[in-house]
Parts: sequence; structure tokens; C-alpha cells
Amino acid sequence: MTYRIAVVCLGNICRSPMAHVVLEKKLEEAGVDDVEIVSSGTGGWHTGDPMDPRAADRLTQAGYDASQHVARKFTTDWYAENDLLLAMDESNYADMAELAPTVADSERLRMFRSFDPQATEQDIEVPDPWFGGEEGFVEVLAMIERTSDALVAEIPALIASRQS
Ligand code: 4NP
Repeated sequence: MTYRIAVVCLGNICRSPMAHVVLEKKLEEAGVDDVEIVSSGTGGWHTGDPMDPRAADRLTQAGYDASQHVARKFTTDWYAENDLLLAMDESNYADMAELAPTVADSERLRMFRSFDPQATEQDIEVPDPWFGGEEGFVEVLAMIERTSDALVAEIPALIASRQS
């Protein structure tokens, strides 16, 4: 049975689409074919939009395919549809936790960077690059690539501990 991971930010046009594309490529490179990645935003302003061009350019320059993204909105149904739900920042986490149908569902919600070997309790967010310049997107992609490598390595353990 496919293990499904949802990566979630605010607009679903910068951070979570970048994580979506990076994770898909790293899973494919690792030969993992029983994990599906989806992404969405807790805000609905960009539903139906492609990725922010700055995020898309950064991904394209790094060898990823950014062309297929269509922004979606996170809803409570995403808990039933996914095994693991990953928030990019604390505010996304709080918004997602509020929509969890049960306490057991909220236990499948984690910070994306909880997999990052360089994260600390004080430095656990993927910062929103939307309001800043290009350098924010460079920093975010490095964080996402590092975290995705660690997450892919954890996949066998995640699948083994899946809740039915
Ligand atoms: P994201 O960035 O959450 O990483 O996709 C943002 C995109 C759009 C907005 C905020 C953050 N916005 O306010 O429209």
C-alpha cells in the first residue's frame, strides 16, 4: 500500500512545492516507488496557480522539474488521505493542528525540518521566502534538499511504524 506524505506551507507556491518536487526526485533516485508526495497550502489565495517563478527558477537551475505544479488548499480531508503530514513553519503547524479530526490524527503531524540533522528546537522552521529576495530561495532549497535526504533515509522506519 502506498505511503502518502503531505508537505504543507501557507500559499503552496514556494516552500511546499519545492519540497514536493525535491522529495519526488530523491525518492525516484533512491528507487522508492511506494511513497507518494502531495502538497498544499493552508491559505487558498493561490489555488490553481503554478509555482512562484522564483521557486521554479531555483529548482530548474538545480535540475528539478518545476513545471507540473498546481497549487491546492489544505483541508481536514488531508488527514484521511495521508499517512504523514509535514508543516513548513509553526504557523502552518498550528493551522493544520486545528483541522485535525482526532488527537490520533494530529500525532501524524510533524514539522518538515524535524528530519533535518541540522535543525534545533530554536531553528525548526523553513522560513517563508515569499516576501524576500533570491537568496531566501537559495537558503530554502538547501534546507529542503538536506531534510529530504534525511527523510528518504527514514522511509523504511516510517512505513514500518505506519498507523492502520
Ligand atoms: P509559501 O509562500 O507559503 O512558501 O507558498 C507564500 C506564498 C504566498 C503568500 C504567502 C506565502 N501569500 O500571502 O500570498
